[in-house]
Amino acid sequence: MNDVFDKCTVNMGPLGQYADRSEGYYMFPKLEGEIGNRMIFMGKERLIWSLNNYLGLANHPEVRKADAEAAAKFGMAYPMGARMMSGQSLYHEQLERELAAFVGREASYLLNYGYQGMVSVINSMVDRRDVIVYDSEAHACIIDGMRLHFGKRFVYPHNNIENLETQLKRATKLTAETGGGILVITEGVYGMSGDLGKLKEIVALKQKYNFRLLVDDAHGFGTMGPNGAGTDEHLGVQDGVDLYFGTFAKSMAGIGGFIAGEKKVIKYLMYNMRSQIFAKSLPMPMVLGALKRLDMIRTMPELRTKLWTIVNALQSGLKEAGLDIGNTESPVTPVMLYGGVGEATQITHDLRENYNIFCSIVTYPVVPKGVILLRLIPTAVHTLEDVAYTINAFKEVKEKLVRKEYSTEMAAF
Ligand SMILES: Cc1ncc(COP(=O)(O)O)c(C=O)c1O
Repeated sequence: MNDVFDKCTVNMGPLGQYADRSEGYYMFPKLEGEIGNRMIFMGKERLIWSLNNYLGLANHPEVRKADAEAAAKFGMAYPMGARMMSGQSLYHEQLERELAAFVGREASYLLNYGYQGMVSVINSMVDRRDVIVYDSEAHACIIDGMRLHFGKRFVYPHNNIENLETQLKRATKLTAETGGGILVITEGVYGMSGDLGKLKEIVALKQKYNFRLLVDDAHGFGTMGPNGAGTDEHLGVQDGVDLYFGTFAKSMAGIGGFIAGEKKVIKYLMYNMRSQIFAKSLPMPMVLGALKRLDMIRTMPELRTKLWTIVNALQSGLKEAGLDIGNTESPVTPVMLYGGVGEATQITHDLRENYNIFCSIVTYPVVPKGVILLRLIPTAVHTLEDVAYTINAFKEVKEKLVRKEYSTEMAAF
């Protein structure tokens, strides 16, 4: 190989290798129409279970109105430039104050995209003397943030607190030599399996070890806790979480995110996060739209109640029907079946074409070989009829799989 472009035809990568047989259907599918529980996929209406529109805000008339008014008043350009140079506004600052108050922190700072923001939060918080200790199922944005870290990083198997303690001992020993500190990173809700990071147990380890804790609560913000303030609120450990990360891309059905914590730490991040300093500020419709959404999360608890009614009905129904939904404690609902990639595509195809159910499919290497994970995301705009219909469909699909009715070849579409 002597052309960097050679790889584009020789090795498309772990996902790209399936491009020919899956693009437009299993990968990069187009969902059309109004965002909701039913949308159009390949010209036909389907029951949609794959959007993180947890509270149903994406298409809420009040949200649509606020977005449209902000776009009419400011356009998509304002404010121009990065926050530090010329992209600051009173509304950005207001949103930061309101977010901080909502998640019970002194201050917060907006992030243009959650992903880039997280990369920079990690990159800014550690130097080569510091050690990062992180959960093995950490999201790609955490992994990418750590790739920029010049110091050591120690991984612990997912939610294995005993092993985390072993890593903390190693890290404590090492930082005693380097003079650095320790940053532990976990997620609040794990987005594939729906189980929660063991925040209580991790925070309890602060009694024995000196570290700071960063929690990525992309799926927990707005869905978890009595006020929707997140997984740490749900578990009663807000004081022990030093840095709280949320995105607008899920419950808020928008774009952007934020990091919240102590005032001095947020001020430091504001002046050091390269992905924010050297990138354009969030446009006004995103900021005003986020203010509106946050207000609705605060003042309309019925949205969360509706979400959890659907979540509980779906998860208990699937379990009663004999389906394995793992250890989820959040709205994220994985259904675990067993088979290869071929069978996984056959099942997905059957669900989409014969049951008109659209959900996401996850296979190796994201989950262990032999596991087929079909991920359902219940929302406040689903109905109990949607739930009953889906449980029955999954029951039938599992029976067909057990009877070996699905071919092991990849399904054509
Ligand atoms: C756990 C987790 N962290 C971070 C992100 C990135 O957020 P954003 O979509 O705002 O870039 C996501 C979104 O997919 C996520 O699931």
